[in-house]
Amino acid sequence: MPTYPKSAEIFRHNRRFIPGGVASLNRAVQPEIAFAKGEGAHVWDLDGNRYVDYHAAFAPHFLGHNDPYVTDAVMSVLRSGASLYGSGTTELEGQLAELICRHVPAAESVQFLNTGSEATCQAIRLARAATQKDHIIVMQGGYNGWHNDVACNLMTPLDVIGPRVSSGEYPFIPISAGIPRQHQELVHPVNFNDLASVEYVCQKHPVAALIAEPILQNVGIIKPDVGYLEGLRKLADKYNFVLIIDEVKTGFRHGIGGYAKIAGVTPDLVVFGKAVANGYPIAVLGGKKDLMDLFVHPESSKRVLLAGTYNAHPVPTAAAIATIERLLMNDGEVYRHVERLGQEMQDGLEKILADLGLKAVVARQGSAFCIYFMDHGPKDWHDLAANHDFGLDQDLRLALIARGVYFFPTATKQCSISFAHTDDDIAFTLEQIEQQLSAMG
Ligand SMILES: Cc1ncc(COP(=O)(O)O)c(C=O)c1O
Repeated sequence: MPTYPKSAEIFRHNRRFIPGGVASLNRAVQPEIAFAKGEGAHVWDLDGNRYVDYHAAFAPHFLGHNDPYVTDAVMSVLRSGASLYGSGTTELEGQLAELICRHVPAAESVQFLNTGSEATCQAIRLARAATQKDHIIVMQGGYNGWHNDVACNLMTPLDVIGPRVSSGEYPFIPISAGIPRQHQELVHPVNFNDLASVEYVCQKHPVAALIAEPILQNVGIIKPDVGYLEGLRKLADKYNFVLIIDEVKTGFRHGIGGYAKIAGVTPDLVVFGKAVANGYPIAVLGGKKDLMDLFVHPESSKRVLLAGTYNAHPVPTAAAIATIERLLMNDGEVYRHVERLGQEMQDGLEKILADLGLKAVVARQGSAFCIYFMDHGPKDWHDLAANHDFGLDQDLRLALIARGVYFFPTATKQCSISFAHTDDDIAFTLEQIEQQLSAMG
């Protein structure tokens, strides 16, 4: 296994001043690598190793690292004298809002935040204000950010979640300390692809909102069954809860309007982040006008507070406009390219896995894919936790990093192809995977 002496030195230094040595604890993984540069489909570490990158910083770099079109837009907004004024509006934020409303059917109007977590937090608060109810439904195996309502039930080990529950709800398993017990009682985790459990919770509690990724993309690629998202829409109408579709990972990566648009389902509120600005920090909350207008309700007791010193900062705002412009160019060239490479990757992987007689499936949506070492594509986290070979997945990821292919070294994490990836990158990656899996016997 390679060593990373310069990375180790930086980690040693940073640990003295930063708990864990990293600025987001999700980044604390082995091997400890400090990256120094990213360009297109590649990243370099401080020790000079180059990797074909499929992590994409947890998925925002859909055009590739430091995409020149986006970089030019950022440089030009900085040179234009634009600043963060913190008073009034700007032309830029209006331009971005119009672009998004034009392309996202669910977004009659939008607001801007800095991170996906801020946006999902505001969406839930809007839902509670609109419905005057407090309970929410979340997905076992979903991730919607770090705040109290949603920091739960992500990759819960099988022995902790216990037997499959349907119809019914799973216990709230926090992924953070410090969430008040009373708050936990308001949050009801259910399985993805399980409408009966949503109905079960709605019959027991006054539900303000259900928040779900349209594809579970924080545990690989778990797609909705045919009719599942439509079913959620119907249940939202029947039980008068707000349907929040969290497109922070799926949005713009699978299509400009988000995956809900592809599925033909219109949520009440929708949240975007990550790929919307190709790596710059901005998130978008959009939705039905009557809900969004709660931010400016004339009665202060009904008004939802939306505030943020850095909201719609000119740099990420310009980056988002440029990213969307790039995505719209040449009649969907970006999407055609990543779909072609995604198919190439899937075909190559399926051949390798079949030739080696491995029990495995490749799950993919466009540019996002993962290998599940089990005999079928999982329908929810419980299925995945019960059947996937986590050890083999983890070992493969670690070995690939040593071979110059960066799959994030946590089993089941999604791999992301970008517009900057080439046929050669895919061929190199497949070659490394074939050699490694063959060697692992
Ligand atoms: C689906 C989803 N929602 C929300 C978030 C939170 O976004 P952020 O990390 O920008 O706060 C993430 C982050 O990974 C995510 O994948």
